Amino acid sequence: MKKFVIKPKIYFNEGSMEFLKEIKGSCAFIVSDSVMEKLGYLQKTIDYLNETGIKSVVFTEVTPDPDVRVIAAGMKRYLETSADTIVALGGGSVIDAAKGILYSLWQFRKAAGEEFKKPLFIAIPSTSGTGSEVTNFAVITAEGEKVCIVDEWMAPDIAILDSTCIQHVPQSVVADTGIDALVHAIEAYVSTEATDCTDALAEKAIQLIFGNLRTLYKDVTDSSARERIQNASCIAGMAFTNANLGINHSLAHALGGTFHISHGRSNALLLSAVLEYNANLNSNTSRNVSQKYAKLAAILQLPARTNREGTINFMQAVADLRKSLGIPSRIRDLGIDKSNFENEVSNMVELALHDRCTPTNPRQPSKEDLIGIYQKAF
Ligand SMILES: NC(=O)c1ccc[n+]([C@@H]2O[C@H](COP(=O)([O-])OP(=O)(O)OC[C@H]3O[C@@H](n4cnc5c(N)ncnc54)[C@H](O)[C@@H]3O)[C@@H](O)[C@H]2O)c1
Ligand SMILES: [Zn+2]
Repeated sequence: MKKFVIKPKIYFNEGSMEFLKEIKGSCAFIVSDSVMEKLGYLQKTIDYLNETGIKSVVFTEVTPDPDVRVIAAGMKRYLETSADTIVALGGGSVIDAAKGILYSLWQFRKAAGEEFKKPLFIAIPSTSGTGSEVTNFAVITAEGEKVCIVDEWMAPDIAILDSTCIQHVPQSVVADTGIDALVHAIEAYVSTEATDCTDALAEKAIQLIFGNLRTLYKDVTDSSARERIQNASCIAGMAFTNANLGINHSLAHALGGTFHISHGRSNALLLSAVLEYNANLNSNTSRNVSQKYAKLAAILQLPARTNREGTINFMQAVADLRKSLGIPSRIRDLGIDKSNFENEVSNMVELALHDRCTPTNPRQPSKEDLIGIYQKAF
């Protein structure tokens, strides 16, 4: 039996933050970071909430790839308030931190036999990549390792995709987060849990990304490209929260946590090697995956008369896109020393094998397979 669920109501397009004026409540706990504060989005949020009579308490201590200390500090601050609303304003790190704070409070209360009333949870993404505004996923760092928590309870109630919030995103973040969204869509598309519903979303997200990401990378002030990529990221999130992901993410979690590489860039550096592994063009057993890659090639209007031809063209299109976004093709291009990398491979492989994303990869990898992918990507 399969199911498909999208929890949040989604408000989108430029100016949709004004929806905040319609919220009913008395106190909002706003989770954000210093960048959102500096860019003025935090004050804008406080002002909108104030117009409807909601006072705000802010927690801006979130740092990229939030760790358990950030979560603990956020929980402490939350408990000092009487919040009936929580607003996450920022990138995936901020939204995941808000999820982590709520989830931990819920678990602690449950363990003590107490109830925890979940506040109205509103997510306002300021990057276009993670799709966290619509997903059941949160990625929290614990003792240097990225841990994926998955629970429907954590999904936001409302997502506001206001494209004005992403107009100052640095070029490298546009590139990394855009590729992250692409990997979400591709992995959901070939996941063992993929359905017609998730396939439809993944195909649309991939079309939007190929059609608009280069434009946005060149000019983040292009409002049409901003909206389309923001939608693509959200749509890819809807796909993977239902179909789950695959080893590109498992390997990226371990790589990013070990070498402090951003989530999107970690995914980008592994993508070609993972596509090649999953397509497994020299074997008959994984025809299904190459059939799907070939379908994506056809959707992108690339030659795909056979599965092999379509797969090769799709893989080339992905590599060309990565290159045009200024993302290096190899892990070694980041200046990581070869022997240092090799010393970490076996630990990273262990982490990746036990990652929540591995079981739904279309090809179940052995340790040696994952070592081979890391070596190829290096
Ligand atoms: N929950 C999920 O479903 C999910 C999915 C994928 C990734 N993740 C996690 O999300 C995190 C990555 O999130 P991300 O890729 O959105 O990056 P991020 O949230 O870490 O942000 C990257 C940087 O960009 C800055 N930034 C954010 N918005 C900006 C804006 N509008 N203008 C200027 N600067 C801005 C941030 O302050 C930060 O320094 C990772 O921890 C990753 O593991 C979660
Ligand atoms: Zn991701």
